Amino acid sequence: MAIWAGDADAPNAIVGGGPRAPPEPGRGGARLAIIGFGGAGRELARLLALKSDEMDRLGVKVVAVADSRGAAICPRGFTGYELLKLAETPRSQVSSGPCGRPGAGVDEVYDETAPTIHVEVTPSDYETGEPGLSHAFKALRSGASFVTANKAPLALRFWDIVSEAASRGLYLGYSATVMAGTPLVSLLRGLRGCELRSFEGILNATTNYVLTVMQEKLVPLEEALEEAKAVGVAEPDPSLDLEGWDAAAKLVIVANTLGYKLTLGDVRRRPLNVSLGDVVSAMRRGRVVKYVARFTPGGAAEVAPVEVEQGSFLAQARGTENAVTIDVGFNVVKLAGRGGGVDATAHALLADIIEAVRGWVP
Ligand code: HSE
Repeated sequence: MAIWAGDADAPNAIVGGGPRAPPEPGRGGARLAIIGFGGAGRELARLLALKSDEMDRLGVKVVAVADSRGAAICPRGFTGYELLKLAETPRSQVSSGPCGRPGAGVDEVYDETAPTIHVEVTPSDYETGEPGLSHAFKALRSGASFVTANKAPLALRFWDIVSEAASRGLYLGYSATVMAGTPLVSLLRGLRGCELRSFEGILNATTNYVLTVMQEKLVPLEEALEEAKAVGVAEPDPSLDLEGWDAAAKLVIVANTLGYKLTLGDVRRRPLNVSLGDVVSAMRRGRVVKYVARFTPGGAAEVAPVEVEQGSFLAQARGTENAVTIDVGFNVVKLAGRGGGVDATAHALLADIIEAVRGWVP
């Protein structure tokens, strides 16, 4: 898949600037700023530390890490050991670790380190999009590629962000926003030019985990939710999962990646409000309740609890697994795998970072 060609309709790729050769391995180099330092940001810091030999070969350094109260800023690049120490600092206290700067924010990070890749791991806010939305434009207008696990900026302003990246020839990576850890976004890129008939899938790990626990342990939703929170896939505000915001945002990102201008407001959203009785009743009838996102071009876009046949592809996704079926007429493509969790998200971010630096070379 050639992703270096200038193609404004090629989200999640290096866009704009015309064809150019990928850098020699190790010649790319990048200064990373990790903005947001909750579970996924910390896991990424650990992963980069563990892969420090490979990062050295690629010339990738982490020059700043920021949370809501301050930053750690290190223009020479943190050592692997320092990254591990940062990952151990208490929540919202990254500025108490190595090179800590209490009160410093994204502006100081940019002024002092001029990052070339901005990694956005702040929480998603679907009303304002902030802080991720401002960070996306700050990054791209400052000449930094934008790699995000935060869904809100793309769910709210997908094409504005794609255009901003395209006009500047910068990489926009969002593999971590949908089915993190399972390369759905790459798969969607491989379907460009196909005619979509329908997309349906389980895109939210928390609701799937809740439903799986209800089915297997016969406990009510509230009890199953406590288990889901302990697994670490729920949003900081789990109502975003239960009310369908997370699945709807992912459906918007999927549809736009396939070239459709779907907005969050276009997605009919029904919350997960099923009782244990509903779940058991479905099982007695050979069916399973799943929280499913569906999009048909020119038709419906919705996220809702629905019953599917036991043994069907979607029914087989258990726990934090996601599963999607994409009908493009001549082919029905299916993909299943982990969808979220800090380790899966960190790996998806790493894949984008490597692609931003090296392009699509193995
Ligand atoms: N809260 C999200 C989910 C995390 O449950 O799927 C992964 O995007």
